[in-house]
Amino acid sequence: MSKRTLESLQKQYAREVSNKGGGMRPGGRGGPNAARGMKGKPQNTGKTIKRILGYVSKYKFHLIVVLLCMLLSTVTSLCGSYMLAPIINRIQFEVTGEAVPMKGPGVIADRVINSFTSTDFIKNIIGENKFAAIACYVLAAAIILGAVYLIGMATTYLQARLMLHVSQNATEAIRNDLFDKLQGLPIRYFDSNTTGEIMSRFTNDVDNIDTMLNNSLTSFVSGTITLIGTFVFMITTNIWLTLITVAFIPVFAKGGSMLAKVSQKYYSGQQAALGAVNGYIEESVTGQKVVKVFNHEETCVEEFGTLNGDLREKQFKAQFWGGIMGPVMGNMSQIAYAVTVGVGGVFLALGRLGAGDLTVFANYSKQFSMPINMISQNMSTIFAALAGAERVFNVMDTPPEEFGREDKGCTDEIRGDVVINDVTFGYNPDKVVLKHISLYAHPGQKIAFVGSTGAGKTTVTNLINRFYDVWEGSITVDGRDVREYDLSHLRKNVSMVLQDTHLFTGTVMENIRYGRLDATDDEVIAAAKLASAHSFIMRLSDGYQTMIEGDGANLSQGQRQLLNIARAAVSKAPILVLDEATSSVDTRTERHIEHGMDRLMKNRTTFVIAHRLSTVRNSNAIMVLEHGEIIERGDHDDLLAMKGRYYELYTGLKELD
Ligand SMILES: Nc1ncnc2c1ncn2[C@@H]1O[C@H](COP(=O)(O)OP(=O)(O)OP(=O)(O)O)[C@@H](O)[C@H]1O
Ligand SMILES: [Mg+2]
Repeated sequence: MSKRTLESLQKQYAREVSNKGGGMRPGGRGGPNAARGMKGKPQNTGKTIKRILGYVSKYKFHLIVVLLCMLLSTVTSLCGSYMLAPIINRIQFEVTGEAVPMKGPGVIADRVINSFTSTDFIKNIIGENKFAAIACYVLAAAIILGAVYLIGMATTYLQARLMLHVSQNATEAIRNDLFDKLQGLPIRYFDSNTTGEIMSRFTNDVDNIDTMLNNSLTSFVSGTITLIGTFVFMITTNIWLTLITVAFIPVFAKGGSMLAKVSQKYYSGQQAALGAVNGYIEESVTGQKVVKVFNHEETCVEEFGTLNGDLREKQFKAQFWGGIMGPVMGNMSQIAYAVTVGVGGVFLALGRLGAGDLTVFANYSKQFSMPINMISQNMSTIFAALAGAERVFNVMDTPPEEFGREDKGCTDEIRGDVVINDVTFGYNPDKVVLKHISLYAHPGQKIAFVGSTGAGKTTVTNLINRFYDVWEGSITVDGRDVREYDLSHLRKNVSMVLQDTHLFTGTVMENIRYGRLDATDDEVIAAAKLASAHSFIMRLSDGYQTMIEGDGANLSQGQRQLLNIARAAVSKAPILVLDEATSSVDTRTERHIEHGMDRLMKNRTTFVIAHRLSTVRNSNAIMVLEHGEIIERGDHDDLLAMKGRYYELYTGLKELD
C-alpha cells in the first residue's frame, strides 16, 4: 500500500472516529457489555423461583406423593400431640370429680379412646376397679399415640427419599443446562470472566440450589401445612386463645421480612466474595510457576489475605443476620406463648377450659410460631440459593454466539477463498485494534502476518472463524459473509493452531484426533508424521497411548506445539491458521514441519503468523501489521526491495519498538 493511500485511510479513519463521538461501537447483540451486564443483579426473586420450579415440575407425580406425605405427617403430628388432651382431662376429672369442658378434636380423641376401652372384653377385665379403668384409658391413648407417630415416621421417611430424588435430578438438569450453555457462549464471555467465577457457578451455586430444594423447600411447605393444621386445631379448641396467637402473626411477619431483607443483601455479597476468592486460588494455582519465579509468594499471600478478609467480613454479616433470625423469632414466639398461657389460665380457673386442652393449646401456640421460625431459619439457605440461582440463570440468559449451534446458517461446501474487506474491529468499544484491514487469499495460497507484538495479528485470525465479529467491513469466505454461515460449519472449515497451546486429559492419540473425530488411527499417525511429532511420540512410554495430563505438563513446550499442529493437520479444513505454531520448536524441526505442511497446504488457504521471518519467506503474500494497520504488503522480495519496515525487521537493522 502506498504512503498516500495509507495517509488518506488514516484521515478517513480519524473522521469516522470523530463522527462517532470518540469511539466506534460494535453492532448487534453480544456486544462487549453483554457479558459484563450479567454481573449486575436485578434481584428478581419471583422469576428465579419460577425457573427453579420449572426444573422440579417434571417430577409432578413425586411431588404429589411428597405433598401427601407432608400432609399426612403434619396431621399425624398434630393428632399425636392432641392425644395428650383427653389423658390430662380424664385425670383432671378423676382428681376434681367435676365435669371437664371438652371441645373440638379433644371430643373426637376421647371418643376414639373410649371405643377401645368400652368393649365388653375390656370391661370384663377391668370390672369396677377405677384405677384399672384410668390405666386402661391411658394405655389405649398411648397405643393410639404410638400408631399415629409410626405413620408419621413412615411418611416423613418416604417424603425425604422422594424429595432427594427430585432435587438431585433437578440439579443434575441445571448443571447440564449450564454446561450446555457454556459451550455456546462467545469467547468474549470467557475473556471477561475469571475461571474461578465460572467454576463457582457449577460448584457453590448449584450446590446451594440443591440444598434449598432438598431441605429448605420441604421445610417451607411442611411449615405452611403445619401452620394451617395448627390453626384449624386451635380454632376448634378455643377461639379466644386462637385470636391472641394469631394477633402476633403480623409482628412475626414484619420482623421476619425486615431481617430477611438485610440478610439477603449480605448473602449476595458473600457469594460474590466467594467467587473472588475462588478465582484468586485458581489463578495462583495455575500460575504457581510464575509466582515462584518472581518471588511473589508473600504478595500472593497478602492479596489472598485481603480477599479472604473481605469474604470473612461478608460471611460474618451474612451468617450473623441469617443466624439471628431464628433466636429473634423464637423470643417473639415466647412472648406470644406467655400471653396465651396467661389468658388460658383464666379460662381454666373459670371452668371454661380443661387442663388437657390448655396444655395442648399452649403446645400449639408454640408450634404455631415454629413453622414461621423454621421458615425464617431456612431463609439463609434459601437466600444463598436464590442468589446463586440468579447467577446461574444469568449465565443461561447471556446471549449465545450468533448463529449458535441450533441455528440454520449456510452449510455449503467451503473451498477457502477468503476476502477481508476494509475491516475495523476492537475488543472494547473504546479501543480500536484493527483499522481498515483488507486482503484476499485463494486456496493454495499462504498469507503471512508479521509485525510487532500487539499489532493485531492474532486478532485478524480471530475474526475469520468468528471468535469475534467485525465492527465495520466484512469477511467473506467463497463470496459469502462469514456471518451467514452456520457457525459450527464455518469452524469445521477453519482449522487453527492457536498461539496458546492446549491439550486435554487423554491419550496422545485422542488429543490429535480432537481435530477430526472420525479420523482413523492411520490418519492420526500420518498427521503426527507431517507435524514431525511422530518420532518424539514413539519415544514416550506408551507411544500414542501415553496419557497426557495437566495440559501436557509432562511434555516440553515444543512437543506441545507439535501435537497442536498434528491436531490441525488431521482436520481436513480448507482454511488453516497457524499462529506462532512453531515458535518453540528448534529451527531444524521447523524446516521439517514446513516441508510437511507444504504438502498439506497444497489446496488449502493458509494464514501464518510468525515472528521468525525465515518461516514466512516463501509465502505468497506477507502483510506487515503495525498498530492494527497493514503498513506494507507483498512477497518477500518485494518487501525487501521496498526497504521499509519488513526490510528493517528482516535484516535486523532496527529493533522493534
Ligand atoms: N481478549 C482481548 N480483549 C481486549 N483486548 C485484547 C484482547 N486480545 C488482544 N487484545 C488487544 O488487541 C491488540 C492486538 O492483540 P493481538 O493478540 O492481535 O496481537 P498480536 O499481533 O497477535 O501480538 P503477538 O505477536 O504478541 O501475538 C493488543 O493491543 C491487545 O492488547
Ligand atoms: Mg498473537
